[in-house]
Amino acid sequence: MSQRYLVTSALPYINGVKHIGNLIGSMLPGDVYARYLRQEGHEVLYVCGTDEHGTPAELAAQEAAMPVEEYCAKMYDVQTRTYDGFGIQFDYFGRTSSPSNHELTTMIFEHLYNNGFIEEKFINQYYSPVDARFLPDRYVEGTCPHCGYEKARGDQCDGCGTLLDPEDLLNPYSVISKSKDLVLKQTQHFFLNIPKLAPDVIAWIEQRQNWQDIVRGIAQKWISEGLQSRCITRDLKWGIKVPKRYQASDAEDKVFYVWFDAPNGYVSITMDWAIASGDKDAWKRWWLPDNVDDVFYVEFMAKDNIPFHTIFWPAMLLGTKLPFKKVDDIKGFNWLTYDKGKFSTSQKRGVFTDKALELFPADYWRYYLLANCPESSDSDFTFESFALTVNKDLADILGNFINRTWVLLQKYFDMKLPASVSPGPKELQAKCEKIVQEISTLLSARKFRQATAALRSLWVTGNEYITENEPWSVLKKDTQAGGEILSHCVHLMRVFAIACAPFIPHTAKKIADMLNLDWEDITHTPIAKAVSFYRLKQGHVLRAEAVVFAKIDAAQVEALTIQYDGNHADS
Ligand code: 2FM
Ligand code: ZN
Repeated sequence: MSQRYLVTSALPYINGVKHIGNLIGSMLPGDVYARYLRQEGHEVLYVCGTDEHGTPAELAAQEAAMPVEEYCAKMYDVQTRTYDGFGIQFDYFGRTSSPSNHELTTMIFEHLYNNGFIEEKFINQYYSPVDARFLPDRYVEGTCPHCGYEKARGDQCDGCGTLLDPEDLLNPYSVISKSKDLVLKQTQHFFLNIPKLAPDVIAWIEQRQNWQDIVRGIAQKWISEGLQSRCITRDLKWGIKVPKRYQASDAEDKVFYVWFDAPNGYVSITMDWAIASGDKDAWKRWWLPDNVDDVFYVEFMAKDNIPFHTIFWPAMLLGTKLPFKKVDDIKGFNWLTYDKGKFSTSQKRGVFTDKALELFPADYWRYYLLANCPESSDSDFTFESFALTVNKDLADILGNFINRTWVLLQKYFDMKLPASVSPGPKELQAKCEKIVQEISTLLSARKFRQATAALRSLWVTGNEYITENEPWSVLKKDTQAGGEILSHCVHLMRVFAIACAPFIPHTAKKIADMLNLDWEDITHTPIAKAVSFYRLKQGHVLRAEAVVFAKIDAAQVEALTIQYDGNHADS
């Protein structure tokens, strides 16, 4: 049986619209990879969804003055629409708050509990009589004992960056009611006993020598710092409830920690996909396959998520003793910075995904982000570099080649292919063959930056061909010879459409439309075979309307740089 591919992108938090750094750190490369694999003819399942629990979701709903369920439903729609706008082709985009995740997470907890990997501890925690609840760390604020910052949070001080415990704060108060009447009380919490699971986790990681350095490095660092038990319960209203039968008293009202339920979301979202596709057991083929090697599972994420995916979640799955499929490769990303600093929602600094789509077509972003993907190090976004990339690569190279070909076909051949010219000129064909092989190999190895550079070199090859052969001059003397050059250019455009499809699918589709070719056929032709599969015949009717890349001028760059620099909160 041939291998099938399971692909997941880190589940974006529900609280707010994500910035373009999130997009290139998880969804966009996941989409390119899944599209590439489908085009290769593989069976692929690509799932993602919103990560809906935790303090940030509760606090964001409170700020929006909405019940948390309503807030999450609204933001789920917003995020769904946005990713759709970028052409992210999930097989299913689900939610971690779905009933399937409640059931699955409870089941996983029970297996861990029964297998002896859950510890119960009674710890001191702030209780607020006014709010009638225990306060999780981010619900307590106060004065930092280190720098005196008066709005330090219970988990960290934003003034000096020190990690804190709520008890460290001076003059603590409740974030909900602002009440200062807080008492430390004992309360029950559950911990995942990672030290007990460590031998299994370490042995499992040892078998994963193929992981890239950044991923192995982060995992090894966590291990060498000493694995500790981690609290997996929180005092929140919103979340997956710890079953009452495990709690010390009815007064306890705990939910699972967001990182305890979120990764299970990959599985539960697949369950929801299975239900939607009419075969409710179909998820098992992916997560409980008869043979683990039948499925190759790749996860995409930014580097801050790596410890949870290399240690915490695998530990949970190993501890269940159920034969869950575990990740084969993790593609980890560094940060995309915004003009040498951080993206900031509160300061409105940087470009967020909803605004990005209002400013420019999705493929401009896709191309730019892939070409500058923070793979081996952080990379920096500026509107200046964005404009440079779009103007040079998309407009001057790809766009110019297409435009020159189309203008001449219109002028001399009434949009009909002048000649059947397969195979193409030897040298051109050999060059293109080499590049498409390279693109395919790089995508298969999940090296997006290099793959995008190779795609660009394919366009450069086409542009050089038309520049060197000057069909505009040849046509003045010899229509047949000029027609043959143009026919090779049309051939190249088909190769471009096939090779562009995973990277910039909207553009690829437009090129396919111009060529009057079936999109299904384009997206089912493996990139490495794009050149040899050329079959268009003389007289094939082409469509006049061409894809256009509008250039971004200096004035626009200046205006956008000012607008998004974070000092213009109302713009
Ligand atoms: O960092 C984040 O955006 C998290 N919401 C990622 C969760 S990934 C998965 F495990 F759910
Ligand atoms: Zn401080």
